[in-house]
Amino acid sequence: MLLVTGGAGFIGSNFVLSTIAQTGEAIVNLDKLTYAGSLKNLDSLKDNPKQVFVKGDICDRELVRSLLAKHKPRAVVHFAAESHVDRSIAGPADFIQTNVVGTFSLLEEARAYYEKNRDFRFLHVSTDEVYGTLAMGEAPFTESRAFAPNSPYAASKAAADHLVRAYFHTYKLPTLTTNCSNNYGPRQYPEKLIPLFIRNALAGERLPVYGDGRNRRDWLYVDDHCEALRLVLEKGVLGETYNIGGESERGNLEVVNALCAALDRARPRKGGRYADLISFVQDRPGHDLRYAMDIGKIRRELGWRPKERFESGIEKTVQWYLAHEQRFAPQAA
Ligand SMILES: NC(=O)c1ccc[n+]([C@@H]2O[C@H](COP(=O)([O-])OP(=O)(O)OC[C@H]3O[C@@H](n4cnc5c(N)ncnc54)[C@H](O)[C@@H]3O)[C@@H](O)[C@H]2O)c1
Repeated sequence: MLLVTGGAGFIGSNFVLSTIAQTGEAIVNLDKLTYAGSLKNLDSLKDNPKQVFVKGDICDRELVRSLLAKHKPRAVVHFAAESHVDRSIAGPADFIQTNVVGTFSLLEEARAYYEKNRDFRFLHVSTDEVYGTLAMGEAPFTESRAFAPNSPYAASKAAADHLVRAYFHTYKLPTLTTNCSNNYGPRQYPEKLIPLFIRNALAGERLPVYGDGRNRRDWLYVDDHCEALRLVLEKGVLGETYNIGGESERGNLEVVNALCAALDRARPRKGGRYADLISFVQDRPGHDLRYAMDIGKIRRELGWRPKERFESGIEKTVQWYLAHEQRFAPQAA
């Protein structure tokens, strides 16, 4: 039994679905169902007793305590977070509450639970954004890179990562931390680049690219990420951090052009190409130029590397959103 937090969100729901399908392990899924979480992501598990869904807040320590006592999970896999950088710039308070206070609350309850459940482990899912930004041509982030978060979101995740580290060193809580790059794939709320642009394109709306579109990210297909997380959970060395990336660094404009080309093939647009909808808008304040991940450690030590190529991952993602178009149409939001 696993206790997953944030399992109705994008990565969490993909993790819950693939873990139950591949391992048959039961999961207690604790999620507050904020705007970013949806039970529709878990539709196929509605009548499956392998998932126990609990609507609730990770900051609710009594609830977390009762779930640990009742279900006796062998691990917590912690995804729950406020996850959108732009929202953290407009209003950081929820990010501090969920990402910092929420992680602290889970760690405290996990620490008490671990006293009597010695096989327990706590896997904390974090981001490459804690490392800050890279110059063009600079070597990718390794796990020993100093933290230099630049947005309130990145700072809140970095604070959580530090707390997890401290609980390992101070209390010997058996923790594992992963820092991953930009995920893409099915079930992502349409506020992040790829699902937002698919939705806008299908609605004939403009595709607003920040700045000059040169900002670079490393793109990780969500199924590859979930597989890496299961591996870290089983084989990772306690107290360690693992970078997870897609070996697919791309400029934002390249990503948007790839999306538009996939849409042109799948659903040709009347009167033009989807790329005609691209428009450049004022850059995000403090926009990090580049993230890139060195995944040498997880490759060498755990034998993992991503399987999905960016081109095929984009194709699959576009197909999934086309098949679920009604759910994500602008009027449905
Ligand atoms: N999406 C990415 O590209 C990416 C990249 C690096 C790291 N991450 C990290 O991975 C994790 C999952 O990201 P995601 O993209 O799936 O996020 P998401 O925004 O899609 O989902 C977050 C989920 O957490 C839930 N949640 C929020 N606050 C909660 C609270 N207080 N209590 C319980 N549940 C709460 C939401 O309802 C939602 O279901 C996050 O920790 C994020 O920082 C994501």
